Amino acid sequence: MKLWGGRFEHGPAELFEQFSGSLDFDRRLLEADILGSKAFASALASVGILTCEDREIVHRAFDEILSEAREADMFGEAEDEDIHTFVIRKLDEKAGSLSQKIHTGRSRNEQVATDFRLWMKTEINAIQELLVGLMGVLLDFAMREPDALLPGYTHLRRAQPVLWAHYLLAYFEMFARDWQRFDDAYRRTDVLPLGSGALAGSGFPFDRQAMADELGFSKLSANSIDAVSDRDFALDFLYAAAGTMLHLSRLAEDWILYSGEEFGFLELGDEVTSGSSLMPQKKNPDACELVRGKSGRVSGSLLSLMMTLKGLPLSYNRDLQEDKEPVFDAAAQLSGCLAVMKLTVQTAAIHPDRMEAAADESWVSATALAEELSKKGVPFHRAHQIVGKLVLESVRTGNRPQDWTTGELKEIASEFDDKARDLLTARSALSNHVVPGGTASSVLLGALEEAGKRLEAMRRTQ
Ligand code: ARG
Repeated sequence: MKLWGGRFEHGPAELFEQFSGSLDFDRRLLEADILGSKAFASALASVGILTCEDREIVHRAFDEILSEAREADMFGEAEDEDIHTFVIRKLDEKAGSLSQKIHTGRSRNEQVATDFRLWMKTEINAIQELLVGLMGVLLDFAMREPDALLPGYTHLRRAQPVLWAHYLLAYFEMFARDWQRFDDAYRRTDVLPLGSGALAGSGFPFDRQAMADELGFSKLSANSIDAVSDRDFALDFLYAAAGTMLHLSRLAEDWILYSGEEFGFLELGDEVTSGSSLMPQKKNPDACELVRGKSGRVSGSLLSLMMTLKGLPLSYNRDLQEDKEPVFDAAAQLSGCLAVMKLTVQTAAIHPDRMEAAADESWVSATALAEELSKKGVPFHRAHQIVGKLVLESVRTGNRPQDWTTGELKEIASEFDDKARDLLTARSALSNHVVPGGTASSVLLGALEEAGKRLEAMRRTQ
C-alpha cells in the first residue's frame, strides 16, 4: 500500500524504496501514531467526513491494533514506507474502506511531528523518573556516610578536605539541573502540530483544541509552516540528554579513578565490574567506562541533528526524517546509563580510613591554616607565604602535617600557635567551611535535608 501514486507512471526503484524507508526505526512511533490517528478520526467525525458510527469502528480497529502490538511483534516482514503507511494498512485490514478516509485533510508532515512529540513526552517522563532514582541512591549513600571525608581535588591535586556526602551532593545538583532541563524540554514539546496540514494549515475547519485535549497537549502550534518544520523540541531533548550524559561521564571518571589502586577510596560492586580473560587479578570498572564512552555518542547525536537542520529551507523537507535515529539512540543510551549508574552507586562501598589518611598525609589543611592566621590579623598574603614556607620545609624534611610541634612551627613563623597546630588534620580543617553551600558537617545536615525535600517535590510532579 502507498499513500500516493496517481501522478506517477511507474513505481519507485526498489533501491530507492529501501533507501528512503523508515519503518525500521520509526516503528517506535506505533503507539503515538495510533493515538494521534484516533484523535484525528474524532476530528473527521466533527467535520462530517466520518459518521459517528464510522468513528467508533475506526477507534475500535485502532484499539485492536494497539493491543495486538503490545502482545507481539506485529511488524514481521512488513515493507511499508513508514509507520504512518503501516498503520493505515493495518486499519484497512480491520476496517476496510473506512481506512481510505482517515487521511482526509491530513499530511504526514504534521502527523510525524505530532507522533514524535507524543513519543518524546512519554520518554521525558521516563527519563525524569530514572534521574530521580539516581538522585535517590546518591542521597542514600550520602546519608549512610555522613562523616567520611576525602581530599577534594582541583587540577587532580589534593586541594582541601571535603565530606564524601558533600562530594556526592555535587552530583545531586548536576542531576537536579538535568531534571529541570528535561522539564523545560517537556514544556516546549507539549505543543500540538496536528491541524497544520502539509504546511499551510488544514483545508478542513478542525477543532484543534479538541484534538489537543484528547491527546493531552497543553498548547496548539501557532504557525503551520513552523509546526511542520520545527524540530527545536528534539534539539532541546538532545541537549538535555547530552548534558546528563556529560554529568554521568564525570561521575564515571571520578569513580574509575577512586576505585583504582592509586586512590583506593572506593570498591565497586561485582555487579558492575568485569574480569580480564588473561589477568586473573583484574576487576575492571567496565560499567563506568561504558558510561563515559557513551557520553560521546550522545553528544554526537545532538550535533548530528543540528547539522541536519542547519540551512534547511522552510518548510518540511525529507531531511527531517533524519531527526529520529539520533533521538531514539540518545534516549536508549541515556536510559541505560542512568539505570546502570544507579546500580553502580547502590553497590559501591567506600574506604573512609584510606580517604582520610590520603587527606591527612597531604597539605589539604594548608588553606585553613593560612585563613586561621589571617583571622588573627596576619594579612592573608603574609599568611599564605608563611604556610607556603611550612609546606616547602615539609617537602624537604619529609614531615607530614601532624609531625610538626607548636614549637617547631613557631621557628618557621612566630604567628603560629596551638590553635594553628590543631588545624593540621584534615578533619579540623574541614570544620572551617561553615558558609552556606560549604562542606562543614554542621552545614551538611541541612543540605541533606534540603536535597531530600527537593527530591520529594520532583517525585510528586511525576
Ligand atoms: N518518514 C517521514 C519523516 O520521518 C514522514 C513524513 C513523510 N512526509 C513526506 N512528505 N514525505 O519525516
